[in-house]
Amino acid sequence: MPRFANSVTDLRSSEIRDLMSLATAPDMISFAGGMPGNELFPLETIDRIYQSLTEKEKQIALQYGPTTGLPSLLESLSDYLEKKGLPVKSNRLMITTGSLQAIYILAKAFIDPGDPVLVETPGFIGALSAFRSCQANLISVPLNGDGMDIEQLKRRLETTLPAPKFLYYTPNFHNPAGIIYSRKVKQEMTNLLKGREIPVIEDDAYSELYFYEEDIQEMQLMKAADPEGIDVCYTGSFSKILGPGLRLGWMLVPDGIYRKCELIKQSIDACSPSISQMIADKFIRREEIYDYTANIRKEYKKRGLAMIGALEAFLPAYVTFEKPRGGFYTWLRLPEGSDSTAVLKRAIEKGVVFVTGKTFDPDGVKNDFMRVSFCNTDEETIRRGVPLIAEAIQEVCGP
Ligand SMILES: Cc1ncc(COP(=O)(O)O)c(C=O)c1O
Repeated sequence: MPRFANSVTDLRSSEIRDLMSLATAPDMISFAGGMPGNELFPLETIDRIYQSLTEKEKQIALQYGPTTGLPSLLESLSDYLEKKGLPVKSNRLMITTGSLQAIYILAKAFIDPGDPVLVETPGFIGALSAFRSCQANLISVPLNGDGMDIEQLKRRLETTLPAPKFLYYTPNFHNPAGIIYSRKVKQEMTNLLKGREIPVIEDDAYSELYFYEEDIQEMQLMKAADPEGIDVCYTGSFSKILGPGLRLGWMLVPDGIYRKCELIKQSIDACSPSISQMIADKFIRREEIYDYTANIRKEYKKRGLAMIGALEAFLPAYVTFEKPRGGFYTWLRLPEGSDSTAVLKRAIEKGVVFVTGKTFDPDGVKNDFMRVSFCNTDEETIRRGVPLIAEAIQEVCGP
């Protein structure tokens, strides 16, 4: 038996990954993945961008680059983020290999084995795994329909000793809960965190994928306010607005944190793919990004509405959910104590997959929820798949 490091003994394959192998069976309907629809990628634009590169640019694209990112992308992305209201000038921007790497680097920067960190329950499995791999003690704060339960957060802050190393949260189109944090909750979080020296990791992978313009106000980021006395570490990604295969994300953080993170990134992969950075840079500079995101917003909205409509038509009344207003996910609440793994087994027999609730529980226990995503299936497939999910639920939880 190989003698693995203590830090990795608790890492287990997540149900999400195991399920991916089933999700690729040719006729399986997959509501499991959190990936963009393949048919929505801007293939022609990427071809055009690559063809238009000069010989010198192509050489740069195939070469190692600076650890913190290609200067031209840092410049164009800064502009892009500034337009979103983010304080680029008073912070430092670093390109990372997906935003998961940004989260992992921040975890490495702050966590010693056993350190408590505040996370949401349910929470994004990738971040939870990154924190686990640094041997963090995950202190979970439950979510309501408008964000973290503030009373519970207050209690955790008062009772967790030593003080948590950071708080991690996902403000917009939460994975898996599908919710948006309200401005009120973000303000209350800010008030509670002030003066405690607990940085915030604000993971904003989905904010471009809103269905309704009127939500933009509510979606204002904590980083945009950059409250004094709180180090907000903002992370974002090209994965949902261009393509996850490019493996490109970023962090926007205060200078002191940036300098530590640069050293950590050097030891992980030296730099993020130059070729991806070159393409992302042109995608922003030529303003293709604005049309593209406008188009995919429309398509995901159609899929999201098809999902809501089908769920309302077919689910038994005892299953409840917040209607998504953007992003990729719906989070279904089964009757208390139900076992979504049993539902999944039935669903797979019927030819449809989703992800079980406990996958997203920091304690890996609570299983009376399920995540059903609408990102990688068209409307017709959504309408075919949802009745099968409803049948599987009824067979396990009753009519
Ligand atoms: C909430 C959240 N954050 C971060 C990521 C990481 O994305 P990437 O590493 O591709 O940028 C994902 C991916 O699904 C996500 O759902």
